[in-house]
Amino acid sequence: MKHDVETPLKFARKNQGRFLAELKDFIRIPSVSTQPQHREDVAAAAGWLAESMRQAGLENVEVIPSAVGGHPLVYGDWLNAGEDRPTVLVYGHFDVQPVEPIELWESPPFEPTVRGDFLFARGSTDDKGQSFVHVKAVEAFLKTGGSLPVNVKFIYEGEEESGGRTLAEFLPRSQEKLAASVALVSDTGILGPDQPSIVYGLRGNYYVLMDITGPAIDLHSGEYGGGIDNPLNALGHLIAALKDPDGHILIPGFYDDVRPLSEEERTLMSRVPFDEAAWLEKTGAPRPWGEPKYTLLERLGARPTLDVHGIIGGYTGEGAKTVLPSTVHVKLSMRLVPNQEPEKIGRLFEDYVREILPPTMTVTIRGGGGAPSISDIDTPAMQAARAAYAAVFDREPVFMREGGSIPVVGQFQKHLGLETVLMGFSIPGARLHSPNENFYLPNFYRGIETAIHFLAGYGDHSQKTAG
Ligand code: BES
Ligand code: MN
Ligand code: MN
Repeated sequence: MKHDVETPLKFARKNQGRFLAELKDFIRIPSVSTQPQHREDVAAAAGWLAESMRQAGLENVEVIPSAVGGHPLVYGDWLNAGEDRPTVLVYGHFDVQPVEPIELWESPPFEPTVRGDFLFARGSTDDKGQSFVHVKAVEAFLKTGGSLPVNVKFIYEGEEESGGRTLAEFLPRSQEKLAASVALVSDTGILGPDQPSIVYGLRGNYYVLMDITGPAIDLHSGEYGGGIDNPLNALGHLIAALKDPDGHILIPGFYDDVRPLSEEERTLMSRVPFDEAAWLEKTGAPRPWGEPKYTLLERLGARPTLDVHGIIGGYTGEGAKTVLPSTVHVKLSMRLVPNQEPEKIGRLFEDYVREILPPTMTVTIRGGGGAPSISDIDTPAMQAARAAYAAVFDREPVFMREGGSIPVVGQFQKHLGLETVLMGFSIPGARLHSPNENFYLPNFYRGIETAIHFLAGYGDHSQKTAG
C-alpha cells in the first residue's frame, strides 16, 4: 500500500503562513554558539525547538544537557509505525554563526525580514530554516492521519558551529537510543533554485590555532631590527611554504591518503549543470582560482585545500608605530577529502611547521577537526530522496559533492553504522556565515513537501523489500 501523501501535502500548503511565522520566532532567538554571551540564548532555542516538536506530535521530547559543559541537545521521536518499518534519524542544528560585521546587514540579523522571495536573518538557512522543514513535515502527517509511514527520531544539536563536542560525546554512548535505518540531514545546498541536487560527498576539515612568538616583549625596530627576528616576517615565510601559488599543498605526506578521482566520477561531475559564470558573479572575485589539473567543481568538492582565515599581530592602530611584535596569532584550516584523516593531517601539519620554522621562533599549535564523508548513491534512501525531489521540483536532482563540512555525517557512520541522506535546500547566494544570510522561501515550502514525499517513499520502498 502506498502511504497517502496528498493529505499531508494539502495540510502543509494550507499552513504555510503559520509555518513561516513559527520559523521567524525560532530565528529571533540569537543562538550563537561560539559567543559566551549567547549561552542562555542557545538554551532558549533548545527549549523553543523542544516545545515545537511536542506541538508537532513528536513524543519523548527532551532537552538533554551537555555532559561536557557545552550546549544542550534536543531529542524527540515517534516510533509507532511498527517494528517492521524503517527508522529515520533526523539531524539538524539550532545554533548559528556570529553576525559580525553587523554594519553590513541590511536588516537586523535576528529580526527576520521578508524581501521578495527571501527571508533575511542569521540562521534563516543555516540551519534553522532547513532543519525546521522536518518538524513541519512530521506535523503534516501526524495532524492529518495521525501516523507516519516510518518511525522517526530527531536529534538536534546546539554547537555544530563551534566544534560539536556535546554530540560527539553523546553518540558513542547512545547507540541504542539513536539506532535507525538511515540519517536525514538538511544542511547543504542545491545547485539552483529550480535545480535540485543531492550531495553524496562532503569535505572534512582540520582547524588550526597557532601562536608564533619571537622576542618576549615588543621591541623598537630601530634598536633591534636586523638583530632579532620578527614573528610576522617568519609567518610570511611559513605561509608561503605551506602551499604553492597554484594551490598545491606542500606538507609532506598531505596527499598520501587522498582517494584518486575515478574516470567514471570525473565524467559524472563534468555532466553536472554547474553555471561557472553565475557562480563567479556571486563571489565578486575577478576570476576563479585553483589547481590547474582539476575542474572548478572538482576543486570545490573533491580536492583538499588549505586556507588562512585570520592573523592577529603587530600594530594595527592609527598611524605608524615602528615595532617588532612579540607574538602573532594565526587561524587556518584544511578541507579534507576521503580518505584523509583529520588527526593524521594535524600531526603532519605540526611536524612540518616545527621543521620549517626558524629557531628564532617558538610555536604553540592547537587543532581539531571532522572527517570527510562519501556515500553510495544506489541505496533505497538515496533513491527515495531522488524521487522526492523530482516530485516536488519537477526536475531530476543531480548527484554532486560539496566543499563544506558536516562532521556528524562521519560520526553517524562510525558510531551508529548509519548512512546519511543530505537533503539540502539552500541555494547559491544564501550567504551562509555572512551578512544578509537568507532563505529562498519557495524552498522552505518545497523542502517540507520534499520531506513528506521522502518519508512516504522510503516507507513504501522498505515495505516492498519486506515482501
Ligand atoms: N551547513 C554548513 C555546512 C555546509 C555548508 C555544507 C554549505 C555544504 C554546503 C555547516 O553548518 C557548517 O558551517 N560547517 C562548518 C563545519 C565546521 C564548523 C566544523 C564548515 O563547513 O565550515
Ligand atoms: Mn549548517
Ligand atoms: Mn554553518
